[in-house]
Amino acid sequence: MSGQPAARRTVLKGAALVGAAGLGVSACSTESKLGHAETPTPTAPVELGAPDEVPVGGSKLYRDARVIVNCPAKGQYKAFSAQCTHAGCLLDKVEDNVGKCPCHGSHFDTTTGKAMHGPATAPLPSVPVRVESGKLVAGPDA
Ligand code: FES
Repeated sequence: MSGQPAARRTVLKGAALVGAAGLGVSACSTESKLGHAETPTPTAPVELGAPDEVPVGGSKLYRDARVIVNCPAKGQYKAFSAQCTHAGCLLDKVEDNVGKCPCHGSHFDTTTGKAMHGPATAPLPSVPVRVESGKLVAGPDA
């Protein structure tokens, strides 16, 4: 059970990796299988919906837009990237102004972006957010 098979396993493993890479090209996904986002924050303005979907004093995760919006007071909004600063997973929930990463358990304060619980140590980057024609819009100006 030892010796020669090792070389054969190596060859087979290499072939499997080539196959997986080929699939990746055709999948055309913005996220890998691990949930890592390739784009950390909106790179163009993205409409999020009605501002009152974000509770006053609370935060809401817009996972598709990769952004978290916090409303410190009525009519005031702040937004942060929803991509974990540890290894790039998208946060999957926000509870009581704490954003949670499903990959390794980091927690972020969604009122400031600050990392509260590791392994992440860097804060979530802030993202411009504004209200336009009655809708929340996040991301850089067009
Ligand atoms: S990627 Fe979020 S904790 Fe590791």
